[in-house]
Amino acid sequence: MKPPVNNYKEIIENMLGEGGFAYIARGRELARKGYKVINLSIGQPDVPTPDNIIESAVHALRVEKFTRYTETPGIPELREAIAEYLNTRYGSDVSWEEVIIAPGTKGALFLAIAAYLREGDEIIIPEPTYPVYSEAARLFNAKPVFVSLKFQGKDVGFKLDLEVIKESITPRTKMIVINNPHNPTGAIFDEKEIDELVEIARENNILILADEIYDNFVYDGRFKSLISYPDWRDWLIYTNGFSKTFSMTGWRLGYLVVKKEVAIVLRRLAVNIWGCPISFAQKAAITALKDPETWRWVEKLVVRYREMRDLMYNGLKDLPGVEAWKSPGAFYMFPRVVKLLEQINMSVEDFVNYLIDHYYLIVLPGSAFPAQTSRYYVRFSFATSREEVSEGVKRFREAVRELVSRR
Ligand SMILES: Cc1ncc(COP(=O)(O)O)c(C=O)c1O
Repeated sequence: MKPPVNNYKEIIENMLGEGGFAYIARGRELARKGYKVINLSIGQPDVPTPDNIIESAVHALRVEKFTRYTETPGIPELREAIAEYLNTRYGSDVSWEEVIIAPGTKGALFLAIAAYLREGDEIIIPEPTYPVYSEAARLFNAKPVFVSLKFQGKDVGFKLDLEVIKESITPRTKMIVINNPHNPTGAIFDEKEIDELVEIARENNILILADEIYDNFVYDGRFKSLISYPDWRDWLIYTNGFSKTFSMTGWRLGYLVVKKEVAIVLRRLAVNIWGCPISFAQKAAITALKDPETWRWVEKLVVRYREMRDLMYNGLKDLPGVEAWKSPGAFYMFPRVVKLLEQINMSVEDFVNYLIDHYYLIVLPGSAFPAQTSRYYVRFSFATSREEVSEGVKRFREAVRELVSRR
């Protein structure tokens, strides 16, 4: 007899949480006790959702009484607005029927993984990585295959290791994940890397699961969306969401784009998990995409975050033992601190805990983005105010100096 294939209790108990959430709780706890906490661990903009989007949700609730179930893949007007956004911005040809709205990009990612991955399937994940892809895959007894990004020093930063990706392909490989711009490194994989990745997917008949949630946070260079390839339907599951661009993390709105035949099947899965996305939030999301006022707001936010990125980089770049790279995208900086950790003889978790306990400064240990090499890094978010970035960097510098001088 075959042994039971799955022990869900064990799988779920071993699932990684998301580091950010645990540290946010810790920060709140310290703040409650009266400490002036600087939290640079948070993966969301420091400002609330723009007023025009809020007003639109209030209107949907108060005036339209838009409070009931909607269609499972979302209301057609929003699906149309998303298709139009992608087509205008990336020259694609997405039809509204190929868009499925989900509760958060996480919901969209889960739907894709639940639909495609089965026991023994392999999913290639460049790491360090946002943890959701591997953890969702494990739930279906699929195997995450981590391939390290190449850190090419503080001038070039992180690149995809396309050779290692190719070598990692087996007959069981179903999917390759690509998050671009990238959390936690702040990398933007360039056109050549993306072209080559697409070629690998085409040649090997593998799906690309693209997570482009940071597509509006581009400070340097050019970002190439995977939805811009004319043959995307053959190999792409595209995801994006409203959380970061419009500071709507609490509204739980993301989406997935796949060819129509697959979208119809995914609807069946979605109806059995969440039924439909939040009704009035969908109305507000139309305003987010279509009102020019929102885009002026986004533009200003990105200009400000570029300044915060520069401020943070200038504060970290000359610290001994810290290799900071001026990240071109998302809103994270991911300095390599391996030399510092060796010098002070600490693990990255101990180092981060020290920063929290003694300096009330919260950053994330690289190990929150699982697998091998990430434990040599820390993640800072610069999606915050000038005061917070300046004070955070100041405390970081002081802590490093103090720890080094004690050795
Ligand atoms: C790379 C990446 N994908 C997805 C998400 C989840 O976004 P959402 O709030 O839309 O579920 C995040 C949030 O931090 C993220 O960093």
